Parts: sequence; structure tokens; C-alpha cells
Amino acid sequence: MAALTSTEPIRPAGASGTQADAESDAWVLETLRQYEPATMHTQYPVVWDRASGSRIFDRQGQSWLDWTSGILTANAGHARPEVVTAITEQAQQGLLHAYMFPTRVRARTVQALAELSGFPQSVLYTTGAEAVEGALKISSRYAMARRGARPRGGRSVIVTFEGSFHGRTLGAQLAGGLPAQRDWAPELDDVFVHVPYPTRGEAWTPEVIETALREVGAHPEDVSCVMGEIYQGSTLRQIDPASARSLRDWCSRHGALLIFDEIQSGFGRTGALFAYEHVDVRPDLLLVAKGLSGSLPVSAVLVGDPSFTKDVRPGELTSTHSGNPISLAAAEANLALYADGQLVAEAARRGRQLADGLADWVSLLPQRRQIVGTMGMIAGVACTHEDGSLAPESSKRLATECIERGLLVCVPSTMGGAMLKIMPPVTTSEDELAEALARFSAAADAVQLGR
Ligand SMILES: Cc1ncc(COP(=O)(O)O)c(C=O)c1O
Repeated sequence: MAALTSTEPIRPAGASGTQADAESDAWVLETLRQYEPATMHTQYPVVWDRASGSRIFDRQGQSWLDWTSGILTANAGHARPEVVTAITEQAQQGLLHAYMFPTRVRARTVQALAELSGFPQSVLYTTGAEAVEGALKISSRYAMARRGARPRGGRSVIVTFEGSFHGRTLGAQLAGGLPAQRDWAPELDDVFVHVPYPTRGEAWTPEVIETALREVGAHPEDVSCVMGEIYQGSTLRQIDPASARSLRDWCSRHGALLIFDEIQSGFGRTGALFAYEHVDVRPDLLLVAKGLSGSLPVSAVLVGDPSFTKDVRPGELTSTHSGNPISLAAAEANLALYADGQLVAEAARRGRQLADGLADWVSLLPQRRQIVGTMGMIAGVACTHEDGSLAPESSKRLATECIERGLLVCVPSTMGGAMLKIMPPVTTSEDELAEALARFSAAADAVQLGR
């Protein structure tokens, strides 16, 4: 992964503009290096000043077509005027904070969420990880109430999938299926049980869950929830529809709640409002964040049936900022963009353009076989050596070449830093996407990817 190893900002080749002001890009990079730990500096040194639609601008007015969406947040485009107006009006109303006291904007937001999603209740939070923690708590309380289990002693097992990512707080990280990310945390392997992911096209049965449970001396009845992603953000592997259905049946049979973490896949990203629609399996709890507001920190646990939350004790799911009026004004305005289905239908069309564009690029040189799972407006390019082993040094060179050509990209740390993840705003226009694909192809040529 690139770090702010130099104070030289990357800018498009041939960029002009003065750097003479007091807060130059170089000053920003140097100051961040001085006052933050190095671990915070994971992205390429492009200093964001402003973002609009599918473009990021620096202070000199240079722009990049964006293939990051601010890590899958700006699905409906950066700084949507409707969202900016709602934030401004809410701020001007003079209510910046209200804790859990009732507000009109909170009432309108949960109503809009129910109408759009069909999930009758929602529990609002700020970050994705917080929603994950809340969902684990809801599941455990539900399981305890149904089974008469005591809070401690009565078993409450959480089943998740190898390769999954659910956030960086303790519970979310323990639930995650990336061992290298949780080696700082206590081992709770008899509570967080990880099983193989039901990848599309591979044989999988819920028997793998029962085998894993036996290994820790637990039973299906001990499982409070099974939590998974429709595609795994770490590798872009997709869930197999038939396996998803058998997982649904298994959960229903054993009274475990099925949770889909759509914190990154929701709100049009995959060409459907929610990715679970592709496999036609409805979860009990649906976790959303990122594209929910498209901007400010808002997340939610969407609850499929009020019975799931009725045994949670008063106040157990609240937090200081979960009903923040400004954030919710942004969410409400953003949700309205999805109401008539047009945005998602267009996202599906754009997703086909992205898949076709990448397929054309691959066919130009038969040895370029590095495309990993495309699903709507999400795809990845994994750089490999001839023997198939991962080549993170190539992905870094590719990313730098893209950025120098005015295409902003991210290389996540998963897959050894060898996958460049493609995640444009789903509202990117046909012309913008064609231009971005051309820049990407030129960057790949420059590093002779696949040759
Ligand atoms: C699938 C998934 N779950 C949970 C999270 C955690 O969200 P946050 O970073 O807002 O805590 C992420 C973040 O990337 C995610 O992709």
C-alpha cells in the first residue's frame, strides 16, 4: 500500500497551478506526517480540496475522475446538490445535535428507510462497525430471550465467513475472517466461529457450519446469528445463490438470525438497491452505511421483524451521535434520490458498461487475466506474476500511473495489496466511464500489465 513516504503530491502529468500558498499540498502532507502516526497514511498523496459528481479536485483546480467513491460512500456522486442543500438548511435551522431526543428529521429518516427497504424498523448509528456491533447485540438478546440463555454461561455463538471484513472495532474485527487483522485481539474462537465462504460456483453446504461448531463443542442451537457479505470486499468473491438459499434455510431451521452486511454493497453499488436482491434471499437484519447518506457518517441496522428487537433492553442500542440531525438530513435527502428506482436502473446499465469495458481490455491481450469479480459498479484488477502469485509492486505502479493520468484509485491492503479496486460513483456518466476506462487502459499499458 502506498504511504505518504514523500511530501511530493501526485498530480496529473502536465498539471499547472501555483503551490505558493501557505497551506500548499506539500504542507498538508508534511503536517499529517508530523502529527499523525504513520499507520494513518495509507492512501496515495493526492490532497483533496473539493469533490463533485464523479470528480475530485485539488486546490489548484486539477481534477481526477474518481474510482474510489470515498471508499464506496459517494454512490450517488460527490456533494450532490440535494444533499448539500439539506445539510445547509438543517444547520441553518439551528439544531446541530439532539442525542436521542425525538426530532422531525429522525422520524422522517427512519420512515423513508422503511419505505425504501421494506424493513419495518431501523436502528441508527454513525459508522459501519457500530452497526455491526449493534446487530450482534440484537441477535444475542433475541437468542437469549428465545432460548432462556443467561447472559454469561448460556452460549451465544456468532458464525461468520473466512475472508470477510466487518470493521475495526473489537467485535467487528473478531467477526471478520481475515486472521492477520485480528491478531491484536483476544482469541474468542469458541464464540466467533469462521467457516468457508459459499463462493459462487463452488460446492458448499451448511454442513461446514455444523463441522466448525462441533470443533468448538457448540451446537446449531447455540448460534445467535450468521453474518456474511453478498460479495466480499476483501477479494470480491461473490456468494453463490443456491448456497445463500441453503444458508437462509439453515438459519431459519435453527433460530439463528441471518445478517447481511451491505455496508459497502448497498445503495445501487451492485446494480440493485441492495445486493441481496441478486440472490433473492432476504436477511433478518440488513446492515447499511456508506451509501446511506452518501456523505456524512450514518449507518443503520435494518430490522426485518419487530420481534427481533423486542427483548433488547431500554437504551442498549443508543449512542451519542446516532440521531445527529445534520447527518440525518443528509441521509434523508440522499434516500429520496433512490425513491423512483431510476438511479439504480442507471447504475445497472453503467455496471454493464464497466464489465464490458474491462472485458474488452482483457481481450486485447489474452495473457491479461487479472480481472476479479465484477458486480455492477464494483470490480477489481489483481496484479499477478506469470506463475499466478500476487504482484503488489505492479498494483502500486499501476495505481500511480492511473493517478498521473487523472484517474483516482485505491489499493486496499487485502490480497497482499495486489488488487486495485474499481468503485466509481454509480452515477458516473457513460462518457466519464468511457474516459476513465481509456485512462486505465493507458496506465496498464504503461506498466505493461500482463505482458
Ligand atoms: C462490508 C463492510 N462492513 C463493515 C465496514 C466497516 O465500516 P466503517 O469503516 O464505517 O466502520 C466496512 C468498511 O469498509 C465494510 O466494507
